[in-house]
Amino acid sequence: MLVLLIILLLSIDVAHTLQCITNCSIGNFRFGEPISIPDGQCQQRKSKSDCTMSLQFRYDQYTYNAQFDTIVLPADFIYITSGPYLSYSINYECSKQTDCVLTYAQNRINEMTRRTYDANRIYGELAPFIHNSTRKGPIQCYNMRNEIIECLASEGCFLDYDQRAKKVRSRECKTYGTPTVSMYDGKSYSSFDVSCNRNLCNDDETFEQIKTIFVNNGLTDDNGRRIAAGTKEMASIFLILLPFISIIVSYF
Ligand SMILES: *[C@@H]1O[C@H](CO)[C@@H](O)[C@H](O)[C@H]1NC(C)=O
Ligand SMILES: *[C@@H]1O[C@H](CO)[C@@H](O)[C@H](O)[C@H]1NC(C)=O
Repeated sequence: MLVLLIILLLSIDVAHTLQCITNCSIGNFRFGEPISIPDGQCQQRKSKSDCTMSLQFRYDQYTYNAQFDTIVLPADFIYITSGPYLSYSINYECSKQTDCVLTYAQNRINEMTRRTYDANRIYGELAPFIHNSTRKGPIQCYNMRNEIIECLASEGCFLDYDQRAKKVRSRECKTYGTPTVSMYDGKSYSSFDVSCNRNLCNDDETFEQIKTIFVNNGLTDDNGRRIAAGTKEMASIFLILLPFISIIVSYF
């Protein structure tokens, strides 16, 4: 009887449309501070089969913030630029129950804020490969055919690498603002991008050096992909068990 009840309640729970929080941002919170929605905020809800949420961690400030929206693709995104600035963003979805995103968020926040990314050191290691502080005027870069080309004064060298296909997606001159390295790893698309203003900085050797810096600092694995979160499985097991626990508790 109890088992039947549990199965029934579980299937209701899974098939149920969720009332997801939407159109709301909260934070910044300091690392170590638990996530909480201030009273009266995030009231807007939207019916969806799964809720989504984004967390952004700033390792140059030791703060994080959260965004609730109903249209985000699950992915990890790392963005590093001069400043130094180092952000790690995580988009995820869950369909277990209303506000399951929040339960998962706290687990993921605990795990991410224990990571000891040193923004100063990491940018300091990258800068010699991507930044020429005295640069004036045009520079030389490589194109897709690995030919040396002249880029405009307003441009930098650019490389976009596909970690799944393990090949360069584009290598060219591109409008340049600041030296940046970014890594995106999503469900069906991944990219590792470098935008730099040193002569010939979008070659394979420089890219290998940058990838090594990411690996040595625990930002990505050897393939330039996100490092799987150990607590992810734990969080989903917890979420699956949660209805059982509450049923058992209310049964007795
Ligand atoms: C999002 O929320 C703001 C207020 O916080 C509101 O002005 C805006 O209309 C909302 N947007 C949508 C698409 O609901
Ligand atoms: C840096 O920029 C200066 C001025 O444009 C140039 O002379 C020099 O060759 C550049 N160095 C590198 C490594 O790109």
